[in-house]
Amino acid sequence: MTSSKVWTHKGTFLLAAVGSAVGLGNLWRFPYLAGENGGGAFILIYALTIAMVGIPILIAETLIGRNSRRSPIMGMAHLTRTHGASSAWRVIGWMGAAAAFIILSFYSVIAGWAVHYTGLMFSGSLAGASAETISGSFDTLLGSPGLLLAYHSVFILVSGLIVGMGIHKGIEGGLRFMMPALFLILVIVLGYGLVVGDAAAAFSFLFTFNFDDLSLEGWLEAMGQSFFTLSLGMGAIMAYGAYMSSEASLTRTAFWIAAVDTLIALMAGLAIFAIVFGSGLEAGQGPGLMFVTLPIAFAGLPGGAILGGVFFVLVIGAALTSAISLIEPVAAWLVERFSMSRPAAVALMVVLCWALGLVTVLSFNLWSEGTLTHELFGKSPFDVLEFITNILMPLGGLLIALFAGWTLSRNEVLREMNTSEGWFKLWQFLVRFVAPTAVAFVFLRTIPQVEG
Ligand code: PFF
Ligand code: NA
Repeated sequence: MTSSKVWTHKGTFLLAAVGSAVGLGNLWRFPYLAGENGGGAFILIYALTIAMVGIPILIAETLIGRNSRRSPIMGMAHLTRTHGASSAWRVIGWMGAAAAFIILSFYSVIAGWAVHYTGLMFSGSLAGASAETISGSFDTLLGSPGLLLAYHSVFILVSGLIVGMGIHKGIEGGLRFMMPALFLILVIVLGYGLVVGDAAAAFSFLFTFNFDDLSLEGWLEAMGQSFFTLSLGMGAIMAYGAYMSSEASLTRTAFWIAAVDTLIALMAGLAIFAIVFGSGLEAGQGPGLMFVTLPIAFAGLPGGAILGGVFFVLVIGAALTSAISLIEPVAAWLVERFSMSRPAAVALMVVLCWALGLVTVLSFNLWSEGTLTHELFGKSPFDVLEFITNILMPLGGLLIALFAGWTLSRNEVLREMNTSEGWFKLWQFLVRFVAPTAVAFVFLRTIPQVEG
């Protein structure tokens, strides 16, 4: 059964893909990775992997989605059948669905932290508070399964409501309102950060390339981040691509998605570091950068409570537009495969993801030590889930690159890409050779981590 649905406008795919791409990866993960890996050196490598690996795979994944015009699982089954390719390629669809499922389960819990901080900021309860009080409040949040669960439930429910309303009314309607609003908020927060904080220190931290800071570790972190930030290898882009107008250019669209995603990560990085440095704090604080260091910085700045609240609203909104792209591929499959109604399909996906989210919720408190996964892998259950997705994402990306590069026929790809011979050749070289080699490197780092 083919879904004949297409986005209302030629440009909607771009909007939807940017909505998927821009999220916690840009606002939370990118700044702390840059902070831990030497700023400018990390960004240089990150930009390189986006260009050489991210964009080519982004094109490949969109191409597969638009060419099949089906949900990722059904689409891969269809393409392998019509191309006489091994049905083993269908694993791309299944792995993507599994990864989307796991990621949504913890993405929603972390987005829930931002809900908590929005409340703390606007209520003024952090204004003027000491650093100890603020980091203590983060520990209190993580130590409370009830609070974490409540925020997780609200966040995933809202995401489900949007997708349940359908791709036009729900997803397109939501994005057309949210995306401009989010961009405006980011501009305001950046302006505030540059004026009130230490703009010069932030610029020099992010844009000074100190080659001594380059490390293999940084390379691999940058590569993993480029998959996560562009939403690759999970069927999210494939599912949205299935609704993409045949007229829109694949190559130009992919370029713009990557450019906007990178621009927003840089704007967020500048804003956060200007505020953090302006308060005399440090960059290399890891995942606590957004939830501990930044609130401490806001607490000491004029108007910090309001601007801090506004900032966390941005985090929630950006996470929401990403979460809906994780629901869509699985929900669309349930609709196509089992003729379920869309609301029922979304409800099923959301309820199961919500339940899996309990694993993440408990990993920060009751299950923070002494569980089976600690015994087996030396990691919390949440760390194991994250680890699994860190394998599934690049692996999915690798298979997508190989499938598009080697299995689809040249004429079909040329027609779908509708670009010059030169660009096609470059793309083909990148997906056939460069991206697979790069992904192999990611595994070199990720797999030994099992030992903990
Ligand atoms: N790209 C999102 C971010 O940077 O936060 C995360 C994400 C969304 C990953 C959707 C994968 C996905 F399918
Ligand atoms: Na992103």
